Amino acid sequence: MLSRTARAMVKTAKQQPWKAPEFFRGAILPPGRMLAHQASMPRLPVPALSQTLEKYLRAVRPLLDDEEFQHTTQLVEEFGKPGGLGDSLQAKLQMRALERQSWLADWWLHTAYLDFRMSVVLHVSPGIVCPPQNFNGQEGQLKFAAQMVAGLLDYKVQIDNQSVPIDKLGKNSLCMDQYYKLFSACRIPGERRDQVVVYGPGSNVRPRHIVVAHNNKFFAVDVYDENWKPLSQDLIHAQLQKVVYYSRYPSEPVGILTSENRNTWGKIYKLLKKDKSNKASLDAINKSIFMLCLDQEVPRGDHRKSSIAHQLMHGGGSELNSGNRWFDKTLQFTVGTDGAIGLTYEHSPAEGPPIIALLDHMMDYCSQAPEVQETTVEPKEPERLPFTTNDKILEAIDNAKRGLDVQVKDLQLKPVTFHEYGKGFPKSQKMSPDSYIQIALQLAYYKLYKVPCATYESGSTRMFHLGRTDTIRSASVESLEFCKAMEDSGVPPGEKIALLKRAIDGHKKYAQETVSGQGIDRHLLGLKLTAIESGLNVPDLFMDSAYEEALHFKLSTSQVPSKYDSFLCFGPVVPDGYGFCYNPREDHLNFCISAFNSSPETDADKLADSLHQSLLDMRELLSTQAKL
Ligand code: COA
Repeated sequence: MLSRTARAMVKTAKQQPWKAPEFFRGAILPPGRMLAHQASMPRLPVPALSQTLEKYLRAVRPLLDDEEFQHTTQLVEEFGKPGGLGDSLQAKLQMRALERQSWLADWWLHTAYLDFRMSVVLHVSPGIVCPPQNFNGQEGQLKFAAQMVAGLLDYKVQIDNQSVPIDKLGKNSLCMDQYYKLFSACRIPGERRDQVVVYGPGSNVRPRHIVVAHNNKFFAVDVYDENWKPLSQDLIHAQLQKVVYYSRYPSEPVGILTSENRNTWGKIYKLLKKDKSNKASLDAINKSIFMLCLDQEVPRGDHRKSSIAHQLMHGGGSELNSGNRWFDKTLQFTVGTDGAIGLTYEHSPAEGPPIIALLDHMMDYCSQAPEVQETTVEPKEPERLPFTTNDKILEAIDNAKRGLDVQVKDLQLKPVTFHEYGKGFPKSQKMSPDSYIQIALQLAYYKLYKVPCATYESGSTRMFHLGRTDTIRSASVESLEFCKAMEDSGVPPGEKIALLKRAIDGHKKYAQETVSGQGIDRHLLGLKLTAIESGLNVPDLFMDSAYEEALHFKLSTSQVPSKYDSFLCFGPVVPDGYGFCYNPREDHLNFCISAFNSSPETDADKLADSLHQSLLDMRELLSTQAKL
């Protein structure tokens, strides 16, 4: 309940009319269908303070001992008392919500992405592995790459004429803003904060080129003719052949600088830009529609799938393809020489689902398109984008190579296909597949560690204008009770089943509340940032070790479904944690687990085995139901 003054403040504030988002430079939608849809979207609500505090206490309960929990309860009560600090911060936050399109969007963009100073590689940018294709050798690589480019341009037509089908969650239409920040977008490093530039619909620059990387060299390749007609597949193919011919010998891997820590890269970027031709090359990369990386052959070893996942996440290290990248580019597609394809994407403009929609379209196109299409007019020659280096830049490249190689060696990636069953099984049990998988993961973790851990699952808030995600906290009082019971042979199956259902229902309820804008994590962040922006001390609630524990996500998870057998992979968000991304299909499950080799506590292979066993145990348990 808000204090009287707070209520008065909120009442007198006027709701501002809708306008296009201002914090992505250039991302202005021209009038059209999309704009009309966006304008009618509801705004992200500010949840009630008492509700968030109550849910926060429940969320941290399984992570704390009794004494810690009592301390946190006192802090929460103090913060939330009528007329207290929580009340006044809540009122200010509600004011912000009335004055903006989204009280969260720019805060989130900065906090989660642009102010983040570690490398985007491994820590921010996911890799997506598409089903391997049936080609081998350079000619097959170029033919497929040409088809891929044609398929992506085919999708871009829908972006340009604002006809991308509007995503739905149940009956609700979702915010489509992210779709319009994918093409012709790039992150630009700064010494303290980065920015994102988008030369999309509505911007006064209309790029007609992509950038192709081969042997660490970059080329601007026009993919539209002078009448803005996309080039035919055979012409794109011919362009790619020229690129490969012009880059027979490898160059200094200037692109590897984009894998640096952001402050370091920000400084070098400034230095690079001082040279006129470097500036022009950077400009061409930033404005390009997307990047296409034609990779060198990769020795696969015994674990082909894992090797491809590494290639897509970071290029495999400086000896392989990491210099053949520009990690700041929002969309960076890769085509290997042995059928491996996929992309790496810079996360700040968008979540996985819009990118999967684009990839699914490309895959549809490639599986249907004729190999050779009619030729149109002769395009401009591919243009080499040169980089002039000096001793300082060469030294920076050496440092970046060493730094990335250490990180690459440290990353363990375990892609798995679970063949025993898919989401059809939980559905047949009248259970939400997503909640079922999340509880199976809780069980898998508990089997290994005998304790739960703070767990992050992305829940989409795209039901609201400019919505992105909030956290579904999958570790709960109920999930812990279920895990304990499963590890206790004295608990009868009937009781275990009841606890499983309670844990799944609890997760589903939390997920539904989160996607309805009633999550707690972004709200708490908003209250904390409101205090900071008001010049106040950070409230004790946020200095509490319980808050730190609640944000130490040893399990960072996300569902990214696709109609193809693609899977997404990303790194752990804490040194002693796991990344876990899954694509549940009807009769099997695809997932990828990541961990750091340097952590003595984590092992992706062990977690994968434990998850396999947990999924089998849960099916076994539910099959006893019929016999009870
Ligand atoms: N009985 C039978 N079927 C059920 C069921 C039940 N009790 N509950 C759900 N189902 C069905 C659904 O109808 C749906 O059917 P479909 O496969 O025919 O579409 C399917 O099971 C999946 O539903 P569910 O598993 O509950 O998950 P969801 O699709 O609603 O997704 C979230 C849940 C949280 C993952 C989703 O809302 C979300 O937020 N996704 C975005 C995450 C994101 O942004 N990730 C990217 C980060 S980079």
